[in-house]
Amino acid sequence: MHDYRQLVSLNGRIAVVLGASSGIGQASAHALGQFGAHVICADHDAAGAQATAEQIAAGGGSAEHRAVDAASGADILALAEQVLVRHGQVDVAVSTPALNIRKRILDYTDDEFDQVMNLNLKGAFHFLRAFGRPMTQRRCGSLILCSSMRAVTLEPGLGIYAASKAGIAQLVKGFAAEVGEYGVRVNAVMPSIIETRLTAPLKERRDIYDTYAAHTVFNRWGQASEVGAAVAFLASDAASYVTGSSLSVDGGWTAIDGPPTGLTQTRPSQ
Ligand SMILES: NC(=O)c1ccc[n+]([C@@H]2O[C@H](COP(=O)([O-])OP(=O)(O)OC[C@H]3O[C@@H](n4cnc5c(N)ncnc54)[C@H](O)[C@@H]3O)[C@@H](O)[C@H]2O)c1
Repeated sequence: MHDYRQLVSLNGRIAVVLGASSGIGQASAHALGQFGAHVICADHDAAGAQATAEQIAAGGGSAEHRAVDAASGADILALAEQVLVRHGQVDVAVSTPALNIRKRILDYTDDEFDQVMNLNLKGAFHFLRAFGRPMTQRRCGSLILCSSMRAVTLEPGLGIYAASKAGIAQLVKGFAAEVGEYGVRVNAVMPSIIETRLTAPLKERRDIYDTYAAHTVFNRWGQASEVGAAVAFLASDAASYVTGSSLSVDGGWTAIDGPPTGLTQTRPSQ
């Protein structure tokens, strides 16, 4: 019989998390660390990255931190090179940083468009190239990006952000197709509405909080830890046949087109 428990262990693995200071990146770093990986916590907020690394160490795990600008191709490449020099390998690499300028397309400036695309999409490209190269040479590895349900469904003011997230989903498929023969897997998570620093301003508005909650089948927002758990799955050998996918972690948001109550007369338990 297969030993399924071994599949989720990340003991001995070297994992890089870009965006590790907050939210989904921080939760991913915590999850990877708890499953046994040594985690390099990277972020442009160096103090936050250090705090995440210290939390992992305090929980009995192993971690370090680096200051990195995810909008800079040179920074991302330097991070990959430093990790290789220090550890000789990189098994898992996760990237979460993104920018959302919430504006109608007619109001967007060229500069705003470039800012969003430079971090969200070009940053994802730089990340895949920098970490994908050593993984293909070693013939193993798992790359994980952060897309969004906005890749498939949106609202006014999110067109440019949504285009960047749909672009990430296609980058994931394209790179997965190219590096599969080298044993490298490439995936994304596709969250809906998660309680993080990014969404804190939305949470403050009760009407918006409730409206977004009602889009999900659970009638609630998600927690960063629920996405971190999905990232840990994609990072692990439990996902050995999963590549090119954007894994929905959206409380059912994209599965339904209305609130989960209404026309039905009976509940499942009756
Ligand atoms: N929170 C949600 O509801 C939600 C939903 C769907 C998708 N997402 C996506 O999840 C990802 C993470 O979002 P979050 O909610 O965890 O946000 P967050 O603001 O809590 O965390 C983002 C992290 O990225 C870091 N960062 C930002 N710009 C950076 C840069 N240029 N260089 C290095 N680090 C940088 C920040 O310091 C922070 O630690 C984003 O890609 C976002 O689009 C979030």
